Amino acid sequence: MAEALIRMKDVYKSYGRGENKVNVLKGVSISVDAGEFVAILGPSGSGKTTLMNLIGLIDSMDSGHYFLDELDIQKQTEKSYASIRNEKIGFVFQKFNLISKYTALYNVALPLLLRGESFKNAREKAAKTLARVGLEDRINHRPNQLSGGQQQRVAIARALVGDCPLILADEPTGALDQKTGAEVLSFFQELNNEGKTIVMITHDENIAAKANRMIRVEDGLIYEK
Ligand SMILES: Nc1ncnc2c1ncn2[C@@H]1O[C@H](COP(=O)(O)OP(=O)(O)O)[C@@H](O)[C@H]1O
Ligand SMILES: [Mg+2]
Repeated sequence: MAEALIRMKDVYKSYGRGENKVNVLKGVSISVDAGEFVAILGPSGSGKTTLMNLIGLIDSMDSGHYFLDELDIQKQTEKSYASIRNEKIGFVFQKFNLISKYTALYNVALPLLLRGESFKNAREKAAKTLARVGLEDRINHRPNQLSGGQQQRVAIARALVGDCPLILADEPTGALDQKTGAEVLSFFQELNNEGKTIVMITHDENIAAKANRMIRVEDGLIYEK
């Protein structure tokens, strides 16, 4: 049996208090096995980013259970979230979220430096990973010297460099033109064929169709056909 990389059960998440309380996730259960390429699809405001933030340990749930790579997240302190993220998850965001004052090389090296690898090792691995995404001749460029598609490839290299079991992407093609977006998607498919687990959030049916499995978020609940 394949091993579940993500196991969520009866997850609730709200924002605000009292009259202003908004219940966003209302009892969500999801299981994703290692090696899957899953799209989480839903209209704007349906709770996709909220769900991604919970999966990615960027935010914490109100109640429910979450196991990430067999680790019981409820038993971890929020202080330990950063190091769990660093070890388990490579993130890709719609707006790339690169650090503008750093070069592509340093942006990609950062997750390794944060986990205490030597500068030499981090630099070598970052350069290799940037070559993997076709940017070997751009390693010393800063984000504002790169196109949107190139910046997203730097972000993908940053998500790959630490060899985390999970890639978590929130609208990764949302800021790209169609052709560049298609390139990012086929790169995800290639990575998945090599065994990476990918969870990709999108509001676009056509993009979701590139994944092997589709989970719909609607009004705080999950549907799977
Ligand atoms: N930090 C927050 N504080 C209050 N409400 C929020 C916050 N983040 C999201 N929401 C609300 O939660 C709902 C779901 O948002 P989100 O998860 O960003 O949806 P999606 O990514 O599907 O567009 C929306 O109604 C949004 O306004
Ligand atoms: Mg969103």
